[in-house]
Amino acid sequence: MTVPTPAPRVAIIVVAAGSGTRLGEPLPKAFVELDGRSILSRSLDPVFGLADPVQIVVVAPLSHLEHARDIVTQSAGSASDACSVVVGGDSRQASVASGLAALLPSIETVLVHDAARALAPGPLFERVIAEVDSAGRGVIPGLAVSDTIKRVDASSTVLETVDRSQLSAVQTPQAFPRAELVAAYEVADREFTDDAALIQHAGGTVAIVDGDPLAFKITTPWDLRRAQQLLAEGSHSSPPSASALSIRTGVGVDAHALDPAQPLWLAGLFWPDEAGLAGHSDGDAVAHALCDALLSAAGLGDIGGIFGVDDPRLEGAHADVFVLETVRLLAGAGFAPSNVSVQLVGNRPRFAPRKQEAEKHLSALVGCPVSVSATTTDSMGFTGRGEGVAAIATALIVAAARPTAGSGT
Ligand code: CTP
Ligand code: MG
Repeated sequence: MTVPTPAPRVAIIVVAAGSGTRLGEPLPKAFVELDGRSILSRSLDPVFGLADPVQIVVVAPLSHLEHARDIVTQSAGSASDACSVVVGGDSRQASVASGLAALLPSIETVLVHDAARALAPGPLFERVIAEVDSAGRGVIPGLAVSDTIKRVDASSTVLETVDRSQLSAVQTPQAFPRAELVAAYEVADREFTDDAALIQHAGGTVAIVDGDPLAFKITTPWDLRRAQQLLAEGSHSSPPSASALSIRTGVGVDAHALDPAQPLWLAGLFWPDEAGLAGHSDGDAVAHALCDALLSAAGLGDIGGIFGVDDPRLEGAHADVFVLETVRLLAGAGFAPSNVSVQLVGNRPRFAPRKQEAEKHLSALVGCPVSVSATTTDSMGFTGRGEGVAAIATALIVAAARPTAGSGT
């Protein structure tokens, strides 16, 4: 593995070296098919969906090392620099230890995850990473226990009911400060069932955060069937949030008074034989509302603040000057317009005959679909009285590239 740039701060060890005795399939569990793809491949989906780059160490059985490498290469695509596959051990603990030995020097936080929890969702990974960063100690996902729990003896006699309010059913990914986890592995003198127990044995403390029912472990054939059913229903993944997609919306409004002494420029087009609009530039309310919507979506202010209202170079300037500069500013801030919709409010000009021409012209300038509609106000208000026109625009923009700030060393 070559060191990716920037060097990642967080590593995820995906343990996939178990044989899957209880599943009872001919293949080791991580290589068993789950709705057309292996359990290992599915377990990597949320990892590659994380906002910041991470180091990924997959721990595989010696017999399936090449198979694991193929799966990882396919999942990683262009991010394969960040991944390595190492041979596991006889126990889960030995497999994690083998993963720890492969960490890059830059790693500060380590997540240990069971490949068998193939449907664990991305936000669960984000949650434990954020918590371990803020708490500075180990963090593990857990779910409240809903069944009544009994303590029983060897002859199956119930001894007592256990207070379940103090119980939590824990899952992976479990996240720890690297130094603490490595030190705990150095002093571990027996097998523990999870990494949190190992940390506690070494004298450390661990906190619980909300787990996710989808992070259940595929252990038995029934669990595999359940995972297949959830994938078929599509209920394993929640709709992506706006922030995950990095989409933003903006609104813009503009109005100009009629000035019969001026030529009319509207929606970037020249309209002969129509009264023009007053304004320092050409008074194109449609184009100005469009620019304001784009600028507000990007948080870049507004057209007045950016272009001013008295720059002699902009006297009589048309839409293309404002729109192209607006799009350039957005690109500089890492945004690309996705869609703009503008509505013109006014009695004149009759817009419908040139609607398509206007949309084509503005779409070409902005570089995304721009739709323009028009309405009157039933003779009410300044537009109804024919004193001027107004325009209202909304814009949808997307982050052209994820900001890299905060991605670590
Ligand atoms: N694991 C591992 N190395 C081992 C044993 C387990 O990497 N020697 C991994 C498994 O691949 C799995 C996770 O640890 O992703 C949790 O273990 P478990 O669900 O018990 O898987 P298996 O040990 O494969 O299953 P079984 O106990 O039924 O044999
Ligand atoms: Mg096991």
